[in-house]
Parts: sequence; C-alpha cells; structure tokens
Amino acid sequence: MNLVCSECGRAAAADAMFCASCEGLLAFETFAAAPGAAPDRDRIAARRNSNDMRDRSGVWRYRDLLPPIPFDSIVTLREGDVPVYDAPRSAAYAGVQRLSCLHLGMNPTASFKDAGMTVAISRAAATGARVAICASTGNTSASLSAYAARAGISAVVLVPSTGISEAKVAQTLDYGATVVAIDGDFDAALETVRAMDPQRVAIVNSVNPYRIEGQKTAAFVLLEQRGWRVPDWIVLPGGNLGNTSALGKGFREALALGWIDRLPRLAVVQASGAAPFARAFRDKADLIPVHAETTATAIKIGAPASWKKARAEVAASLGTVLHVDDDAIADARAIVGRDGIGCEPASAATLAGLRQLAGNGTIGAGDDIVLILTGHVLKDGAYAANYHESAAPFANHILRGVDPAEVIDRLNAPA
Ligand code: F0G
Repeated sequence: MNLVCSECGRAAAADAMFCASCEGLLAFETFAAAPGAAPDRDRIAARRNSNDMRDRSGVWRYRDLLPPIPFDSIVTLREGDVPVYDAPRSAAYAGVQRLSCLHLGMNPTASFKDAGMTVAISRAAATGARVAICASTGNTSASLSAYAARAGISAVVLVPSTGISEAKVAQTLDYGATVVAIDGDFDAALETVRAMDPQRVAIVNSVNPYRIEGQKTAAFVLLEQRGWRVPDWIVLPGGNLGNTSALGKGFREALALGWIDRLPRLAVVQASGAAPFARAFRDKADLIPVHAETTATAIKIGAPASWKKARAEVAASLGTVLHVDDDAIADARAIVGRDGIGCEPASAATLAGLRQLAGNGTIGAGDDIVLILTGHVLKDGAYAANYHESAAPFANHILRGVDPAEVIDRLNAPA
C-alpha cells in the first residue's frame, strides 16, 4: 500500500507526516486487489471465532486491507468489534420508521478513536518510537494513553485547559499519560503538535494516515453485521473530520472489492457554533476557520484538519453536511438514552441532524439509516447530570421525599 499526498498525489516517504512538496495530508491509496484476488469478506469475518485478540479485533481481522505491520508489533485491546443497535424511540423522535446505531462508544476506551489508535500505536511500536503525542478534546487523549501504556510508549497529550469533559481527562491521567493543559483551544493545540518533528515523537492525531486506516474498518464491521446490506444513509458527527474521511474510504474500498454494490450517502453533522465545514459545503467554497463554541466539547473545532479529504468523501457518496444547535443536541442525547443506548453529546448531533434531514425531506421516512455514535454516555456524565436537573423537555428529575410504593403503583396503573 502506497502512501501518497491526498492533495497533490505525490508519493511520500513511509515515515513522513505531511507532503514534502505541498504540506498536504498523506493518505494510503485506496486498497485495490489484483483482479479476481479480492480478500474474501466471509473468511475475514470468520476470524471472530478465534481466541487471538488480533483476530477478534474488528480492526485487525481486516488486516488484509491495512498497511503492513509486523503481527508481533500489534498493540490491541480488542477494539472495533462493536454492536449495531436498533433505536425505535430515536427513530420516532427523528420522524423515520426505523433506525440503527453503530455504537463506537462500546470500544475499550469508550470512543471511536480506539480503532485508529491501535493502528497508529502499533506502527509507532514497530518503528521504535518512545514518545507519542496528540492534541485532543478528550477522547483521542484517552485512547492514546491507553494504547501507549499497553505498548510501553510514553504518551503526551495537549488539551485545552477549560471546556473539555473532566471524565475524559481523568481517564487519560489514569492511563498514565503526561497531560499538558494549554491556554487555548483544540485548534491551537493541534497547531503545536503539527509543528513537531515526527522523527522525535509519533504524532497520532488523525492527520496520521495510520489512524484513518484503522478507523475505516468501522465501515466493514457495520456492513458485516448487516449481512453486507448497504444502508441508504450514514449519519455521523464532524469535528476535525478524520472520521468522515475514514468511513468514506472504508465504504469506497468495500465497493472497489465487490463486497457491496453501492455507497451509502454520508450526512455529516456539526454543532452550529463549530460548523465551518457545513458552511463551506453550503457555499461550495473553501473552508474558512472559525472560533468554535459549543457545549458538545468533543467537536468544538474551528479549523478541521481533514476537511478536504472529508469533502471528497461526502461528494463521492452524494452526501450532505449540516449543523444543529446545542439545545437540539442536548435533547437528542437524552432521547438516545431512552433507547437504552446512551452516548455523549457530540454523538447525539447525529440524531438531531437526522431529525432535521427527515423534517426537510432530504432523508425519506422509509430510508435505511445508521447513526454513528462516537462516544459512550459516561464520557461526559456531568453534561448528562446537568441536563436532567434542568427544565429541558426530556429531563428526568430525581424524585425526593416520595413513597417508592406509590411510584410502583403509578407505574403499574393501566395507561
Ligand atoms: N465524536 C466524538 C465523541 C469525538 O471525540 C470527536 C473528535 C468527534 C466526534 C469528531 O470526529 O474529529 O474525526 O470529525 N474528537 C477529537 C478528540 C477531536 O480529540 O478526541 P472527527
């Protein structure tokens, strides 16, 4: 698999992080098999039956489609093999007949980052890196720290000093990373990381093409569980836009291999206060960075690094990009909980976005739709607690001073 510049197409050195000619992001070329030699999807899926963690991993069982990494260097926590849930209450809320959720929050560190991090850290381990770094709104940092701990690599994370989930920082500290709080937002932190020398430290933000290769396997894991039936729409949150580029690549590769016969359309949802990609898409223009503000802190990103790659994927899928306000995200997050699923705020932007797209007819009520839930509900417990103490429409207030027996009677009473 060749590493090339995603912008000018020039070949890149195996250990480069950006294009030496134009500084564009690098990407592994779309996986293509020799005619008649496409890897057998059922043989790959059957690796689930093995007890080797690398076979059970939803990422590494698709190793035939990943950049080559020595098998012994693989650092895995058995990530990627996450469930697809049906979500009837969320469907009703959005105004569609049926809906399912690929819950990437069911990964080892409770976010989608693990699928990419296992590949980035395995690569770092294989090349002898001693230190790895990322900028983060919290989830990348937790994921990096866990995989680095497993690999015996030192992790350094740069996080905004305010406005990210305490639970994510605590998780990161727990895994033993060095946490550096910076006076600035995610965009400033990423700029600092991008300026670092990749020979001295492994940079594992989603500008690292190995991250994207790992994250693309979420498309395969989803399709595998659906018996390779392609949904009409995939709805996912957009922040730095690495995941949009990864999922788009995964579906395109599945199509190129003949595993599926068409692409699902990608709908990327941003928070209104952090929606430079939605604006660029609407205006058919280049992205103009913004100062991001949203309570969905995971996607509080104003200068997304992967916007060009993401734009190409949205276009290839005949998709769309939109934004939803913070109140809509908050309500949608509570509704996902009512399905017994739960997710963090950024993930719930998907349901709020679907509601908008179903409302304006972009998505049909009978369409086959999958939401990509990117983080677990416990990633931001404080946000959930505040919502339920508020006067918001779906707040579930704690009862005090009531007789539990009366509560049971009320719940048993015929409707
Ligand atoms: N959802 C969650 C829960 C996230 O943590 C992120 C990004 C996104 C969606 C957006 O994904 O950046 O690939 O478009 N979190 C990063 C972090 C920035 O540092 O944890 P994207």
